[in-house]
Amino acid sequence: MPRRNNKFSLGSVMLLFLLILQPYLSCARKLLCDDHVDVAPKNSCKFDRIYSLGDATADTGNLAAEVPDSLFNKFPYGITLGKPTGRPSNGLLMIDYFASAFGVPYLNPYERGVEKANFDRGANFAVAGATALPIEILQAKGLPPHDETFDGWLATKGLHLRYATNSSLNVQLEWLSSHLNQTCHSREECQDLLKNSLFFIGDIGAKDYSYGFWGLEGAEWDAFAPEVIQNIAQTIRTIIGFGATRVIVPGSLPLGCLPVSLSFFHHEEDSPLFYDSNHCMVGWNNQAARHNQILKAAIEELKKEYPNVLIVYADYYNAYLSVLSNAQNLGFEDKFSACCGSGTVFNFDFGSLCGMPGVNPCPNPDNYISWDGMSLTQQANKYMADYLINSIAPQLKCG
Ligand SMILES: *[C@@H]1O[C@H](CO)[C@@H](O)[C@H](O)[C@H]1NC(C)=O
Ligand SMILES: *[C@@H]1O[C@H](CO)[C@@H](O)[C@H](O)[C@H]1NC(C)=O
Repeated sequence: MPRRNNKFSLGSVMLLFLLILQPYLSCARKLLCDDHVDVAPKNSCKFDRIYSLGDATADTGNLAAEVPDSLFNKFPYGITLGKPTGRPSNGLLMIDYFASAFGVPYLNPYERGVEKANFDRGANFAVAGATALPIEILQAKGLPPHDETFDGWLATKGLHLRYATNSSLNVQLEWLSSHLNQTCHSREECQDLLKNSLFFIGDIGAKDYSYGFWGLEGAEWDAFAPEVIQNIAQTIRTIIGFGATRVIVPGSLPLGCLPVSLSFFHHEEDSPLFYDSNHCMVGWNNQAARHNQILKAAIEELKKEYPNVLIVYADYYNAYLSVLSNAQNLGFEDKFSACCGSGTVFNFDFGSLCGMPGVNPCPNPDNYISWDGMSLTQQANKYMADYLINSIAPQLKCG
């Protein structure tokens, strides 16, 4: 892990992931929701429904529904789609491309509510800023720790350090359970509903780590990732109990490559061990890689427990590194700066974020990997999704 000798920076780092929480709107227009984008690699897998749980990476508008004042509801979020949709990007997310590739319309955010949205083809329960562990468990660990100076500084920026959303993985699972209770009325009926459905569980956990990073030490810190992953594994067991037959489990992105991480540690520039060969932060990437390693081991256990269920790891980490190393060929002129932001270091500054007054996007978001310093541009999401669909689809044993 990175050194913890500068509390302010560390707090900022956790902030980063808090911000991933900023709400968005959602595809309010039918047009937008039902539009399919012709990008997905060929695959023969088509599903009746997709259900998604997770955090900002997959949030198509839940946080935006929870917090209408969220930056995700403000221009230039959604600029490529013509209006903010609640997604943390200029346009579409990976989950949108996955939906298209697997024959399902873009997923409506569950928190929009049944009166406003259709959930016949599945639902998206992912909420930006969500933690894998329940808020009560984090609170019992004293996470995130209170620092009045820091909290006060954030408040002056209109940001709140403590839980921006309480819709952690277990809350999302409750929503799924309640949705299924209303949709199918016997074990057989539910199994029938879910037998040709696809589940995405994650990615999730980055936010837990940003809290834990600031507040945990030693053995507590070492036990934290296994605890986070146990909770994810338990969620997968529960949805298999509901009747899920195909589950995709995304791992963590290389968090140390994101502008939000890099900008806060740029003062470490001279420290030779601080960056890896991609010029990403070693500490955060090691944490993400450790999460992924434990997650993959948990998936192997689950496969033994449930030999009739397809459980597939989605390698977000290497998908991102692939985009990074092919950046030039893919048309990304800037690999590490935010397209939409401000400030002198990686165009990212917590006091002046994308969506705030006077903060402008770059002229062509397709030339950037990072949209706002924390989330990816549509173009980066598209390339990530292409890479991932090519690896996931054959493992789903369709057709
Ligand atoms: C989340 O829960 C905590 C404590 O239970 C509460 O103080 C906070 O206001 C809640 N946050 C939101 C966004 O609901
Ligand atoms: C759904 O129904 C089951 C079985 O009746 C029940 O145990 C569970 O608590 C229900 N879930 C919700 C969220 O209401």
